[in-house]
Amino acid sequence: MSSPEAQRLQKYLARSGVASRRACEQLIAQGRVTVNGAVVSQPGTTVVPGADEVALDGAVVRPPESSVALMLHKPPRVLTTMDDPQGRATVASLVPAEQYPGLFPVGRLDADTTGLLLFTNDGQLGNSLIHPRRHVEKTYLALVEGQPTEPQMEALRNGVLLEDGPTLPARGRVLPLSQARTVAAQLGWSLKGGRRIVELTITEGRNRQVRRMLAAVGHPVLQLHRCSLASLTLGDLAPGQWRLLADGEVAELAACAGDC
Ligand code: URA
Repeated sequence: MSSPEAQRLQKYLARSGVASRRACEQLIAQGRVTVNGAVVSQPGTTVVPGADEVALDGAVVRPPESSVALMLHKPPRVLTTMDDPQGRATVASLVPAEQYPGLFPVGRLDADTTGLLLFTNDGQLGNSLIHPRRHVEKTYLALVEGQPTEPQMEALRNGVLLEDGPTLPARGRVLPLSQARTVAAQLGWSLKGGRRIVELTITEGRNRQVRRMLAAVGHPVLQLHRCSLASLTLGDLAPGQWRLLADGEVAELAACAGDC
C-alpha cells in the first residue's frame, strides 16, 4: 500500500472540517496549530496524514480516512442538525451517520422545507460549497399565495431589499399552469385559490431567504422545496431516502466549490 502524500497544513485542516482553507491559514498564522507538539506558524508547512499529529488549540484534528458525499430528500418537520439537545426529529436519523463518521449537512433547510440536502464528511468540500464567495446556485420551487406579476418577478431577479441587505441577482419564473399542476401533484401541493408555483434560483444562503424574498414582493410561501444544488438534482429520490453521489458527481461538485 502506498503511504499518504504530504499535504499543506491548511489543506489538511480544511479537510478535517476545521474551517475554510483561508480561515485555516489565519489559525496557523495565529500560532494556534501544532505539528507533532511544536507550534507551526508558516502556512506552507507540509504534513503527512497518519504520520504527523496535528492539533488546533491542543485538540488533535484528523481528516476523514475516505471522503463520502450523499444527498438526502429531506422530508418536512425534520431539523437540519446532527444533534438536537431537545430531542426533536433531525436529519441525523435519516442518513448513515454511523457508517460514515463525521458526516454533516452542507448548509441548512428550514424544518418545513423539503428537498435536496447534501451531506459530506469532507470539511473542505462542505465549507467551500457554503462559502459566500462561491455563489453556488440553489434552485427552489415555492408554492405561493396568488400569482406574482412580471414586475414582481423582475424585482426578485434584480434583488429585493431584506432587513439584512439587498439580495444578489437571481433567476426566477412563475411556472405555467400545466407544469405547476404536474409539480403540485408530485409534491402533494394544492393549487386551490389561485396559488402559483415560483421557481427561484439564488446564489446566497441567508436564513429563510426564499421565504423572505417572496414575502417581500407580497407572495408569502406556503410550501418550499429545493430541487437542485450546484450540479446536483434531486431526481426521483423519494422523501426520506438518501443515495451516495457517484464519483463524477463529486468531481463536478468539487470543481464548482473551487479552491477557497
Ligand atoms: N430559503 C428559505 O427560505 N428556506 C430554506 O429552507 C431554504 C432557502
